[in-house]
Amino acid sequence: QRSLLGLKELDAEEIIAILDRAAHWEQQETKVQNVLQGKFAANMFFENSTRTRFSFEVAEKRLGAEVLNFSAAVSSVQKGESVYDTVRTLESMGIDVGIIRLKPIGLLAELATKIKVPLINAGDGNNEHPTQALLDLYTMRKQFGAIKGLTVSIIGDILHSRVARSNLYALQKLGATVKFCAPANLQASDLDARYVTMEEALKSDVVMMLRVQLERHESGMLSSAESYREQFGLTVERAATMPDHAIIMHPAPINRNVEIDDELVEHAKSRIFKQMEHGVPVRMAVIERALN
Ligand code: CP
Repeated sequence: QRSLLGLKELDAEEIIAILDRAAHWEQQETKVQNVLQGKFAANMFFENSTRTRFSFEVAEKRLGAEVLNFSAAVSSVQKGESVYDTVRTLESMGIDVGIIRLKPIGLLAELATKIKVPLINAGDGNNEHPTQALLDLYTMRKQFGAIKGLTVSIIGDILHSRVARSNLYALQKLGATVKFCAPANLQASDLDARYVTMEEALKSDVVMMLRVQLERHESGMLSSAESYREQFGLTVERAATMPDHAIIMHPAPINRNVEIDDELVEHAKSRIFKQMEHGVPVRMAVIERALN
């Protein structure tokens, strides 16, 4: 039984094994398999989610598991119960795997030392979002055949982005070059990637735009949506300068006409909804890995 707390701790072979297994699941025509029949999966989201929560639920159901959905907003968390007591409660009821999204950084790592069932990180503050990065890698590999040798630009609110962190760790292990582009006050000094201009960032094979995470900002971090779009947004004009073979990605949710123009979201270069589609087989592979 294996938790998945982040991609920093996985080696290239383990990442490739998950992507290969996701490819297996994507090819299955039978929608529901019985491989996890009799197993209970609990989705515990202490922070809002649409894509991650529902694609884990679809993945669990496709594997034949019993699914429990915990939502902090309608739970005893509202009476002051701690995250540890909540997870320990579900563990005592017999869950086999916990999928967990948390806001405070460091809490997931601490929980994993105390909870016996495997835990899967579904978004951990601004630390890591490993299943998002795995579905991003899966999308890139499907597009280009391999990750090694690709140049990937990650543009936007790097400081608050768990997606940027997980992608950086995994892409570098798999032999890709990662460039960052961000306003000075949204750069992360602890990460090992070069910051480049928008002009240079747009020359890459993959242009990954990040959401401006206003909910994590201190006041005044963003002067205005218009000036952000002008300086760091993927506008229709900027997208026209990308190489013909290059693709646009975004983990979503999207601030349309802030970090990416409305017309580009479903543009021929965009793989944004493909990324969401790939979230299901990738999460099937991760849940199966946790329980086998
Ligand atoms: N990309 C992502 O994590 O989306 P949600 O917050 O909707 O899960």
